[in-house]
Parts: sequence; structure tokens; C-alpha cells
Amino acid sequence: MRIAVIGPGALGTFMAALFAGENELVLLGRREMELEQVEVRGRTNIVSKIRYSTDLGELEGVELGILCTKSYDTRCAMEMIHGHMGSDTSLLSLQNGLNNEAVMTEYLGDDRVMGGVTTHGFMRTEDGKVVHTGTGYTVIGRYPGGVSSMVDRVAGIFNLAGLPVEVTDNIYGHIWNKVIVNSGINPLTALTGLKNGEVIRIPHLQWLMETVCREGANVARHEVELTGEEPAHCAAVVARATAENVSSMLQDVRNRRRTEIDCINGAIIEAGARVGVETPFNRCLYSLVKALESSYL
Ligand SMILES: NC(=O)c1ccc[n+]([C@@H]2O[C@H](COP(=O)([O-])OP(=O)(O)OC[C@H]3O[C@@H](n4cnc5c(N)ncnc54)[C@H](OP(=O)(O)O)[C@@H]3O)[C@@H](O)[C@H]2O)c1
Repeated sequence: MRIAVIGPGALGTFMAALFAGENELVLLGRREMELEQVEVRGRTNIVSKIRYSTDLGELEGVELGILCTKSYDTRCAMEMIHGHMGSDTSLLSLQNGLNNEAVMTEYLGDDRVMGGVTTHGFMRTEDGKVVHTGTGYTVIGRYPGGVSSMVDRVAGIFNLAGLPVEVTDNIYGHIWNKVIVNSGINPLTALTGLKNGEVIRIPHLQWLMETVCREGANVARHEVELTGEEPAHCAAVVARATAENVSSMLQDVRNRRRTEIDCINGAIIEAGARVGVETPFNRCLYSLVKALESSYL
């Protein structure tokens, strides 16, 4: 399959390494780099020759695009790429956040957008090099729901490449679920400077995490059927399983980068306003993280 991975960061570099072997792959970025191969170490070990480019003309003839920018760059990336995508190109998001697929749909229409959730962890050490820090699961589906033959085909390609993928007919439910889990863990770690496991070890934080998750779930149930266990319970399970991890939001704060708070707690606040559910705890965490960001951005 002709595949374009858009965004040469931690996730995108892993995806490029994964698919370069059996497919015709291009890794698309926004800045010039001398990149002829990508390397994954850690839980997975792959070294792949790749084609890296900033030329959006490379999207011609591509059957599958995989969007791997941060969620706050989704609209900007779509502005750049949509005019170069053929009418047969489908686009899959594996990003975190609630609104990526909705933005993609604005540009591409309903039939070509796939959503995805992955709980694997990746860290970029330098351009073209990532560490696969934690294993997890990946689920993809037609956005916002339903089935499509393209999703089945893409799942087959993931499985063939060695990353097991499940197909769902309720990807929006999975996306909501991960957003709620992230809304409970990420801001608390970013604000306290603590690792994920502390969020369930310290009772004050555990109470806050569960309260925020319940609030998000109350909003979500107006829009979607949530998947799996109660989100507050899922968040506790994730915090325990990733106890030693520094969350992506805390990493962003430490590195003085913009966080993805807008598409996590910010998106829950927006959805709450849309369906008429108050979200005071999400609003509080959102405001604190925005204030923290504004101290260095
Ligand atoms: N890392 C993980 O473990 C993981 C796991 C699951 C989900 N996710 C989600 O996946 C998304 C990406 O995360 P990440 O950790 O890979 O972030 P990242 O390392 O910051 O990578 C984002 C990449 O996107 C590039 N980019 C931004 N705008 C672009 C554009 N218009 N065209 C082409 N490239 C563009 C950036 O370019 P520059 O290099 O020039 O800045 C950067 O290389 C996030 O939503 C994250 O939450 C990450």
C-alpha cells in the first residue's frame, strides 16, 4: 500500500519504521532534515530505510495517510495537506484528543476519515530515533462509527507489520474513553510534577482524578456509548500500569512546550457546554494548566 505518515515525531517515526518494509512509504515533515533511515529501540527493535520529504506532492497516489502531529497542529496540517490528497486517499488519526477526526472530516468528508487510539508509548530521542517505551493496544475504526472495508484493510496491514490492531464500529467511544482517562491523569501530573503512579497513591489526587473522570463521563454519555469499564476505574488501572511513567503533559511542561490540554480537558468543557452539563473540575484543571503554560510560552 502507498502510505504517507504525516509528522516525524515520536509516534510518526515509529509508524514509518513499522510500515517501511512491506509498503511504499513516505514520512512527511514540515522542516528539512537529512533522514534516510529511522530507528526504533526498546520494546521493539526496527531499523528501516525510509523516504523523508517536505514535498506535499508526495501525497499524490497515496492510499492511506496517518496523521501523527500533536492535536493542536491538526487544523494547520489539514490546511496544508488536504488539497494534495487524491479523492481516494483515506486518513487515519492516532493522535490523542477529542476533535482531531472532526477537523479531518471538515476537510475530507465522512467517508475517508478513520479514528484510532493507541496506548503504546514512544519517546523521540533525536530526529529519526525513537524508543518504544511501553506496550499497549491499538484500535481503529470508521469515524465516528460503523464499518468500512478500508478499515479492515488497514487493520490487516498493521497486523502484518507486527502491531496488533483491533477494529471497532464505535471508535468515537474509544476516543472519548482515552480522553477521559487522560483528563484525569495528565493535568494532575503536569501540575504536581509527579509520576503517573502518585495520582493513585496520594488520596487527595486519587479523589480529584476520579471526580474529573466521572464529570467527563457524564458529558460523554450524552454523545456516545462509552467502551469498556467505568472511565474513573480505567484511569486508576492506567495510572497503576504506568506508575513509573512521566506523562506526556508533564514532559511538555518540563520541556516548556505547549501541552495538549485544549483537546483533552478543554474539549470536555466544550462538549459539556454543547450538551448542557456543568464541568467545574475540568475547568479548574484546564485553567491551572493554561496558567502554567502561559508562564513559559
Ligand atoms: N508519543 C507517544 O507515546 C504517543 C502515544 C499515543 C498517542 N500519541 C499522540 O500522538 C500525537 C503525536 O505525538 P508525538 O509524541 O509523536 O508528538 P511529537 O513527538 O511532538 O511529534 C509531532 C510531530 O508533528 C510534526 N508536525 C507538526 N505539524 C506538522 C505539519 N503541518 N506537517 C508535518 N509535520 C508536522 C512536528 O514537527 P517538528 O518536529 O518540526 O516539530 C513533530 O515532528 C499526539 O496527539 C500524542 O498525544 C503519542
